[in-house]
Amino acid sequence: MCKKIITKYTPRFNLESRRYIGCKAKLIDWIFGLIQQETHDANSFCDIFAGTGSVSNRAICLFDHVTINDFLYSNHVLYHAFFGVGEWNEEKILQMLNEFNAIDATQIPDNYFSINYGDKYFDYLSARKIGYVRDLIEERKTILSEKEYCVLIASLIYSIDRIANTLGHFEAYRKVKIVPQNLLIKLVDVRQCANVDIFQKDANKLAREIHTDIVYMDPPYNSRQYSRFYHVYEVLVKWDKPTLYSDAAKPKFTENNSDYCRTAALEAFTDLIAHIDTKFIVVSYNNTYKSKSSSSENKIKLEQIEEVLNNCGTTKVFTHKHQAFNAGKTDFDDHKEYLFITEVDNEKRNRSFAALLRGRQI
Ligand SMILES: C[S@@+](CC[C@H](N)C(=O)[O-])C[C@H]1O[C@@H](n2cnc3c(N)ncnc32)[C@H](O)[C@@H]1O
Repeated sequence: MCKKIITKYTPRFNLESRRYIGCKAKLIDWIFGLIQQETHDANSFCDIFAGTGSVSNRAICLFDHVTINDFLYSNHVLYHAFFGVGEWNEEKILQMLNEFNAIDATQIPDNYFSINYGDKYFDYLSARKIGYVRDLIEERKTILSEKEYCVLIASLIYSIDRIANTLGHFEAYRKVKIVPQNLLIKLVDVRQCANVDIFQKDANKLAREIHTDIVYMDPPYNSRQYSRFYHVYEVLVKWDKPTLYSDAAKPKFTENNSDYCRTAALEAFTDLIAHIDTKFIVVSYNNTYKSKSSSSENKIKLEQIEEVLNNCGTTKVFTHKHQAFNAGKTDFDDHKEYLFITEVDNEKRNRSFAALLRGRQI
């Protein structure tokens, strides 16, 4: 049983203390150095494939208004916890977390989480406690504000990320004898950011609805779907307890399968660029097309990105040598991060994409 009490002085999880494929936390200074150098008269910023939210996290300090979007349920809850505006009572939440931390996992019944994930993604007793706590949060939904509900789930996600028996994602679990862990659920770094709008939409749909001065795009680069990488968190957040399949205990993937992970990626990217209403487009991509494994190969070639962007303005390309977080396997050499920055010329864009903007395929 965990006896440690958490208080308002216990260090909190900051947004970056989470393992996530493609997270830009280590590249933030480079990315924003270039954005500040290459853009002007920009007051609003959109992070349209936001992932962990590491880019928005910096943008919030620099722009009057920030739009943050990702189609995953788990990311959406995390943005509300870290950035969302809403009433919450810190004392009440700390008390609940201490109550959860005091639960003796040997004394509680099995549940959806322990039956499906126990001794796979988590040691059995931790899995039992996680499922039990998640049920308690759902039962208490009526006495929690939306912000409090999101803070509790976010704190659970960040805490269990520390003890997951994985290489940082849930594509598979490590086939090793699992050492029992002492799960301590700590608070995330809760803030109230009045200058942030949070969305959970397909990026191409959202592009048709918003205007911001800068749009930052960091789509998936290869065939690996984020809904599969993080399926355990998606299940934990939705908590509709779907039937899971195979030894890897995955649900049927009926939603949030990204076109950016398929052969349709170039078409999706072209559609996005044609429809986004902005002054500057900033795109992150990398050169994993030289990868040794086919699932890591880029879905869009770097030259294709530049060609599409050049259809709507002048594009500059910057590179940075960087070893990405790729779950412990170095399956490609000479990894480079690319940043494309395009100053949009609306007339050129409308001419280049006229057919697409009239609703036809080009
Ligand atoms: C490379 S990651 C972004 C990483 C992020 N910049 C960070 O620092 O954590 C790509 C993100 O795009 C999201 N995504 C993929 N396809 C999407 C789509 N069509 N609409 C919205 N989000 C999408 C995935 O869920 C994933 O979180």
